[in-house]
Amino acid sequence: MIPEEKNKTLDSWQTSARYWDKYRVLIEQMFAPLTSGLVEEARIGIGRKVLDIGGGTGEPSLTISSIVGPTGSVIYTDPVAGMVEAAQAEAGRRGLTNIHFRQCSADDLPFADRTFDVAVGRLSAMFFVDPVTAVREALRVIRKDGYVSFAVWGPKEANPFFSTVADVIDRFLEVPPQDPDAPDAFRFAVPGKLAGILEKADAKNVIERQLNFQIKAAISFEQFWQLRTEMSGTLREKMARLAPDQLPIVKQAVADAARRFFVSGTMSFPAEALIISGKKSPA
Ligand SMILES: C[S@@+](CC[C@H](N)C(=O)[O-])C[C@H]1O[C@@H](n2cnc3c(N)ncnc32)[C@H](O)[C@@H]1O
Repeated sequence: MIPEEKNKTLDSWQTSARYWDKYRVLIEQMFAPLTSGLVEEARIGIGRKVLDIGGGTGEPSLTISSIVGPTGSVIYTDPVAGMVEAAQAEAGRRGLTNIHFRQCSADDLPFADRTFDVAVGRLSAMFFVDPVTAVREALRVIRKDGYVSFAVWGPKEANPFFSTVADVIDRFLEVPPQDPDAPDAFRFAVPGKLAGILEKADAKNVIERQLNFQIKAAISFEQFWQLRTEMSGTLREKMARLAPDQLPIVKQAVADAARRFFVSGTMSFPAEALIISGKKSPA
């Protein structure tokens, strides 16, 4: 990734930090199955030393902190200052003492070899500058036989939580063809793509698990619309390109497309993620 693109990605996450913080309760609830999947695949339990890569406003670090307990520890990392501040403030509010924070990028981890038992990343690998280097770094800092696990989104078509809004907006805008390797929520949606990167980085026993779940929350369409258009940098940028008179038309078209996912005051979207895990070579 050229430096300009890298800075653009990080600037966008810096703006996103305040919205991810605003919706932290909903995010924790909506994406909890991803955290459970990572905990399971990386064999995280009491006493484990865990590295979280790209922890955003605090997940999965905060959940894992209570799973590993006082004999374990979590080191949260993220390259974006606003994310680190938001996550650290929340850990403080919760009085967590086994969690520590470092602002850094996945491809240059400031830790000694074999510092951790396992490393995880929830919805962050698709934004890594150089994914092979990042996975090599994750493997370097875990112990022999330790696990690395990354949760990423599956195909856009299987994730209407994202596509119902994006598909409508794209009908109103000129959208240039996208580089499939550019940072994007669906960069690793193709089965085998991130698994291939783990193998290239020399991870052993690489396994890809498909996780189907419901993104659920007791919110209205109006709240969903606000949450989506604030949280996503891509949507914020596209919304800004719409003419003012197009906005209500787009919103109504999204409301029509999303109607079936809102029943009796509850939102429920089917979702598909992939959890890709591997082990550090015992050699
Ligand atoms: C979709 S958010 C996920 C945050 C959190 N893990 C969660 O699941 O709620 C993606 C995160 O990846 C981080 N990120 C972007 N570039 C990164 C990089 N090069 N290394 C590590 N994390 C990165 C962003 O700052 C952001 O916090």
